Amino acid sequence: MGLPGWHCARPASPELTVLEQIAASGLVPVVRIERAADAPELARTLAGADLACIEITFRTDAAVDAIRAIRAEVPEVLVGAGTVVTLDQLDRALEAEAQFIVSPGLQAAIVHGCQARHVPILPGVYTPTEILAAVDHGVSVVKLFPASAAGGPAYLRALAGPFPSVSFVPTGGIDQDNLEAYLRSPSVLAVGGSWMVRPELLAARDWGTVGRLAAEATAVVRSVRTDVAR
Ligand code: 3PG
Repeated sequence: MGLPGWHCARPASPELTVLEQIAASGLVPVVRIERAADAPELARTLAGADLACIEITFRTDAAVDAIRAIRAEVPEVLVGAGTVVTLDQLDRALEAEAQFIVSPGLQAAIVHGCQARHVPILPGVYTPTEILAAVDHGVSVVKLFPASAAGGPAYLRALAGPFPSVSFVPTGGIDQDNLEAYLRSPSVLAVGGSWMVRPELLAARDWGTVGRLAAEATAVVRSVRTDVAR
């Protein structure tokens, strides 16, 4: 596919690689889930809003079972494990069949553990030096984190020049209001964030609001893509 940007992305299908599916989604909802039993309903709600990708963070004890449940019950949704910062978490994520791994930072052991098992890893980076370190480890798609605090779309534009072969998944401080500016930034593969899956919405099992927020977000993705394709 035409990494680094997502503008060439096609609709999700099983033939696409994981990174292509992330690009096709354009969005990576970052989920902190307390009840694994809610995970399939959450994934179905996102899929109903045309959002077939989800990142379950290892910030709760429910993460492993949530990933496993989505893989078993909602296989059309691509599920990754987030906040993976130890090899034990990586092992548990892969045992649960997570399809991609996300970390807030760059750790050689995690990167190499993923590469050895042919699972895409999106390590977190914040600076040009960290991006170079990721490239040295053979990584070409990175999570820019925390994206808004780092400088937002203007920072991404500044990074695109010296790193033309690196794709970014900016995450941190992104919401419906600034989503479009990120999607229009060069080299953005997809945008990550928790705004449509906020913990209080999950706690209340407010699938209506989750679905509405997800639909609003996917509408922005569609609109930017239509615009860029013109
Ligand atoms: C992450 O885990 O990647 C971020 O904490 C998500 O950031 P957000 O909550 O600001 O969207």
